[in-house]
Amino acid sequence: MAVKEPGTQEPLIGRLVVIGLGLIGGSLAAGLKARHLCRETVGVVRRAATAEQAVALGVVDRAVTDVSDIASELGPDDVIFISVPTLAVESVLRAIAAQVDPAVTITDGASVKGSVIDAARTVYGDVPPQFVPGHPIAGSEKSGVTAANPDLYEKHRVILTPLENTDAEHLKRVTALWQGVGAEVLSMSVAEHDEVLGATSHLPHAIAYSLVDTLAHDIGNPNIFRYAAGGFRDFTRIASSDPVMWHDIMRANKDAVITALDLFIDNLTRLRRGIETEDSEYLLGVFTRAKTARDHFTKLLAKRALVESMSTHKIDYLLQPGGSVTGSIRVPGDKSMSHRSIMLGSLAEGVTEVEGFLEGEDALATLQAFRDMGVVIEGPDSGRVKIHGVGLHGLKAPKKPLYVGNSGTTIRLMSGLLAGQAFDSEMSGDESLAKRPMGRVADPLRAMGAVVETAEGGRPPLKIKGGQTLKAIDYVMPMASAQVKSCVLLAGLYAQGTTRVTEPAPTRDHTERMLTGFGYSVKKDGPVAELTGGGKLTATKIEVPADISSATFYMVAASIAPGSDLTLTHVGINPTRIGVINILKLMGADLTLSNERVVGGEPVADIRVRYAPLKGIDIPEDQVPLAIDEFPALFVAAACAEGKTVLTGAEELRVKESDRIQAMADGLQILGIDAEPTPDGIVIQGGQLGSGEVETHHDHRIAMSFAIAALRASGPIRVKDATNVATSFPTFVELAKQTGISLEVIDS
Ligand code: S3P
Repeated sequence: MAVKEPGTQEPLIGRLVVIGLGLIGGSLAAGLKARHLCRETVGVVRRAATAEQAVALGVVDRAVTDVSDIASELGPDDVIFISVPTLAVESVLRAIAAQVDPAVTITDGASVKGSVIDAARTVYGDVPPQFVPGHPIAGSEKSGVTAANPDLYEKHRVILTPLENTDAEHLKRVTALWQGVGAEVLSMSVAEHDEVLGATSHLPHAIAYSLVDTLAHDIGNPNIFRYAAGGFRDFTRIASSDPVMWHDIMRANKDAVITALDLFIDNLTRLRRGIETEDSEYLLGVFTRAKTARDHFTKLLAKRALVESMSTHKIDYLLQPGGSVTGSIRVPGDKSMSHRSIMLGSLAEGVTEVEGFLEGEDALATLQAFRDMGVVIEGPDSGRVKIHGVGLHGLKAPKKPLYVGNSGTTIRLMSGLLAGQAFDSEMSGDESLAKRPMGRVADPLRAMGAVVETAEGGRPPLKIKGGQTLKAIDYVMPMASAQVKSCVLLAGLYAQGTTRVTEPAPTRDHTERMLTGFGYSVKKDGPVAELTGGGKLTATKIEVPADISSATFYMVAASIAPGSDLTLTHVGINPTRIGVINILKLMGADLTLSNERVVGGEPVADIRVRYAPLKGIDIPEDQVPLAIDEFPALFVAAACAEGKTVLTGAEELRVKESDRIQAMADGLQILGIDAEPTPDGIVIQGGQLGSGEVETHHDHRIAMSFAIAALRASGPIRVKDATNVATSFPTFVELAKQTGISLEVIDS
């Protein structure tokens, strides 16, 4: 049985027999027919009038009213698609079982898979290898053959739930059919399918039917629908769906639907109580969490995703060479401070208001994690966030593992906080985070008495056992890391005694500064920071300055591109973060700071950058921790400088979102630059950047660095997978275009 690849205009199969020509079955037949992907489409329907109508509408080539009229004619190239209400699948299987050759592929489109499997077992004894259970996620409230649409499945998802004994060729054929009509095919277990659909599809249908029925019959005002507007319409559209189909689905997936309904009824009862008692905190909590979830889903809907983990929409950047950057811009809020504002605001007593919050995925992951632990957080809305603090001991156990995406800062800082809680917790993240070392936080936390479990090699996920008594330690950090320092200090809030951290070199001190801003005393003495457990945090106002790490891309852009003159406003210039300014100045860059002021305990300034020829330097090692996130961009500056730039003492770069030494060396070499990685740094010989495709290894800063490199390249640069730029710099593309960089975003 040869199956042709989708995409060819050659028929994929011989005959497609669709049993039940409603929206789902009719659309598959019409879709394959329109694309000439099968030699003949045959419909099987109950009523002769429908058969005639289906042919007249061009949905099928021919239609019969009895499956026996066609079943025994079918051969090894043919496919039967059963598209009848879920509980009718058994009688269809019974009708075809004895007549259909085992070489014929049989598949179905029922919304519940467990009951279909049971039906097949009842009829056949076991599910036959020719049967491929499936479910296209493309229904609507429309039904009947007149609703058939050849393009219904374009960019929709189809879930197949093959069993262990499902034949691979039959599976391949069904996959090819769905792909042929433009669908994306996914595979899942039967149980998972029914649980997920029970919650995301069957529950909302049950609620919509019940709501409309309540309004129509139980509320005694006959005029009620005359006043129903958009809200009613949006919420109840699906109550117009086919009643028989939904009757069947509810019965067939009874257990999963009841579990989801019980949970919903519980929550509705709680909401009722919240309204009755005018519990604003509760109401705001439910509504803000729901709004965030729904907004997130709207974004996913645009990509037609069913659940997030199933697909991420990847993008590349395509850059044209040359140009200059000019104007005045404000880059988004500082990532480190945004994370800390949510953490400390949540643990404070009272309501903390934040302005300038970075609405990037990393900081949003932190925000979501605290929502998952019961903190009510309003916003973000244009950088404004309001956090209803719960106090140091007010967090609630999250119902599921906390997912922190790409964010190393979230997982490392939160491990310190979570070690001090009464409940167990777990944190996991994306592919890049899963490779990053967590032993550096787990070790000191264990020394404090925490119980922390990592996956193999000290990597995420992290499992933290609650209810431990933490004791203060005096920790001398083996590496210069603000994340480790912050983690230990945050655990110290919950420890008995005075926790002391000594760093080998100065690292960003936002945690210490912000704790002080929340009224928690932190003593600083040179490389030592210490605090005593058992105090409390008091809510405050926070203004987050623009992120110097994001500003860096534009500082380098203006420095390397002749004719540039760019001002970056309100940039945070905390002394522990200004390595990039110092290094660029040493290379000969033309940077001027003005309007220097202190905002909410952090120094800020406007930075004007004009093009100046750069020269290669030996980067002073004491600047490394002060510019740790800025090196990818600085390597681009080095590639455009005259002479050699040497970096040493920067082995930490190898354990960032990617191995930044290797990733940058590889990319620069592709672009024709002599860049030699060393164990703790790199040697870059300035030269002419060429053209080519560079990999980012899911690292936002690698992506942005190569984007600005195009300003001095001799040809176009394609940056492969720039998706993660959204973690730290959601407006990067907009600002790139605004300042004069020729950047196009393309689907990868
Ligand atoms: C950060 C500290 C740094 C930095 C990261 C943010 C922080 O990491 O690279 O982007 O907010 O504390 P290390 O502590 O690993 O150096």
